[in-house]
Amino acid sequence: MNSLCLRVAVLGCGAVAHRWYLPGLSRPDASYELHAVADIDRKRAEAAAAHYGARRVYASLDEVLSDDDVDIVVVLTRHRDHYDHVAASLEAGKHVYAEKPLAPSGPLVRQLVELARTRGVKLGAAPQVMLSARNRRVAELLAANVIGRPTLVRVTSSGFGPGDRPDVDYDPIWFYQDGGSLVSLGIYGLGTLLWLLGVPRTVSCFQGIAIPSRVVQTGPAAGTAYTVTAPDNVAALLEFGDGCLALFDGSYSVANSPRFELEFQGTRGTIWIGGFGGPDSVLVQGIREPVRAAGPEDDPAHPWTLAWGVHDLVTALVEGREQAVGTRLAVALADTMDAMRASAERGRHVAVGAGR
Ligand SMILES: NC(=O)c1ccc[n+]([C@@H]2O[C@H](COP(=O)([O-])OP(=O)(O)OC[C@H]3O[C@@H](n4cnc5c(N)ncnc54)[C@H](O)[C@@H]3O)[C@@H](O)[C@H]2O)c1
Repeated sequence: MNSLCLRVAVLGCGAVAHRWYLPGLSRPDASYELHAVADIDRKRAEAAAAHYGARRVYASLDEVLSDDDVDIVVVLTRHRDHYDHVAASLEAGKHVYAEKPLAPSGPLVRQLVELARTRGVKLGAAPQVMLSARNRRVAELLAANVIGRPTLVRVTSSGFGPGDRPDVDYDPIWFYQDGGSLVSLGIYGLGTLLWLLGVPRTVSCFQGIAIPSRVVQTGPAAGTAYTVTAPDNVAALLEFGDGCLALFDGSYSVANSPRFELEFQGTRGTIWIGGFGGPDSVLVQGIREPVRAAGPEDDPAHPWTLAWGVHDLVTALVEGREQAVGTRLAVALADTMDAMRASAERGRHVAVGAGR
């Protein structure tokens, strides 16, 4: 029996830490423990430690990295800080799991992957779309050729964003100013598409700011007016070879999201995908056949948690295997998003890998 118990430090005790990671990481598990929490706002770290039972409290990344007992750093800071925080943690010889996007560009993501390799540590990055039973079922259906060869895919990963969500208990304004809708919301649908189909060859993209002046609708900042400075409306056409195309939107300018987030049209049928799980989250229809539910038998209300990405890293370390949520998708996403941004800026199609 393996008695390895890894010590986890959470960097950034903000919204995502409280909503997902800290509750998920404070559940009893013999293979790891929530050892430390850190935030530049020390009071936040103290509150998180008291509530979730972390032993040590820090107010900087340097303090975390000076703690020889820390094995894994979970980076939950804002988008523009991820690269620096992940790089410093890897340099210090810590394993890292980071929220998305891992870094602002493909070359910088590759630098982090190389740094992890040379330091002999593991790196994992959200989005963890490959852990979804629903997505794994779709991968099985595609591999089993149930709809033949994919021809046209529609992916919508859009809404009005956290500024309008009824369950928001934090100030969401920065999401509209640091990266915009693609890296925060669109990245989930785009990640699922790339995980299922691979990296597109060429993209053509438009982006803009569709709703520049907004007011926070709910939560502690309700009523606050703000200006959108990052693209809140992104749409792209992605070409995968063999004539297979995908239409994608990752927008904060969509009032009501459609029932199905993904639709795969193939030479022999269609797959519709929508909802977190359960049989009705995946529907299949062959040519001149009735629609049938083909989703997993899991309960859609199952307490799904982003902390599963960290559990995956822990399990990989304990069992000495590769992670499911490693860096391959982060690289694919960064390269594709680079090409999308370059296409939007230059007003032409861009080959993925030639975005910068
Ligand atoms: N908010 C959500 O529901 C949600 C959901 C999924 C993913 N995410 C992702 O999680 C990440 C964080 O988002 P958030 O909404 O939690 O942001 P947030 O602003 O609420 O939290 C970030 C925290 O990091 C702290 N921080 C900043 N710099 C620091 C530093 N140098 N050292 C230590 N702490 C520092 C801040 O004080 C703050 O408490 C982003 O990548 C976001 O895309 C958020």
